[in-house]
Amino acid sequence: MTQPDERALRREMVETCRRMNASGINQGTAGNLSVRCGKEFLITPSSLPYDEMKPSDIMKMGYDGTFEGKHRPSSEWRFHRDILRERQDISAVLHCHSVYATTLAVHHRSMPAFHYMIAVAGGTTIRCSRYATFGTQALSDAALEALQDRRACLLGQHGQIALGTTMAGALWLAVEVETLARMYVQALPLGEPPVLDDAEMGRVSAQMQRMSYGQMPDADGTNDMARPKAAMARAKPGKPAR
Ligand code: 13P
Repeated sequence: MTQPDERALRREMVETCRRMNASGINQGTAGNLSVRCGKEFLITPSSLPYDEMKPSDIMKMGYDGTFEGKHRPSSEWRFHRDILRERQDISAVLHCHSVYATTLAVHHRSMPAFHYMIAVAGGTTIRCSRYATFGTQALSDAALEALQDRRACLLGQHGQIALGTTMAGALWLAVEVETLARMYVQALPLGEPPVLDDAEMGRVSAQMQRMSYGQMPDADGTNDMARPKAAMARAKPGKPAR
């Protein structure tokens, strides 16, 4: 396993938290972020304003709950730890209190497939977890359940969690979840919108994978749909672009 560049990860965490607040999906010291770092993980400290946060303020934790650093780790370290331990498919966990996602979460409303982009979270719904007190093991258990086969969930009367293979990917997904929640909240006063059936959502999911659609572009551009000139050049003349 290649050694993680811990200093670079710490810098990226600070930048990602600042971007999270600048994007409007979080405010104040709400929310938190963690990322896998070798056999341990890095996590934001509790209650420290993001514009004051420095890379050296980031806390390092072991999966046994021990920590190193000059602050207390985020009060939500349990769900960060448990998600990173259980979900080997992801490396970053972002939690925020975005307004529209939380508007649904205060009513314990999961999002059905009212829009095809629901598939970006990995399934036909974005679930809302049951309520549990912040910072507790009960909240972590509820979050893991709602995240079963998903990369995002709402947290009952609390906020949302988005997962990614990178921090940028987790932030990108959190913004998508918030956008979907905003659409759903705005559609609801006109009546419960019709839902795309599982067969259609299966086609959407397959199409997304085939076209790398609904995925944040990889840092190296490998899934960037705007770039595959070589593939297009190899395509037979007259063959329509996918
Ligand atoms: P921390 O500042 O302890 O990370 O808590 C913020 C929060 O959003 C709790 O759910």
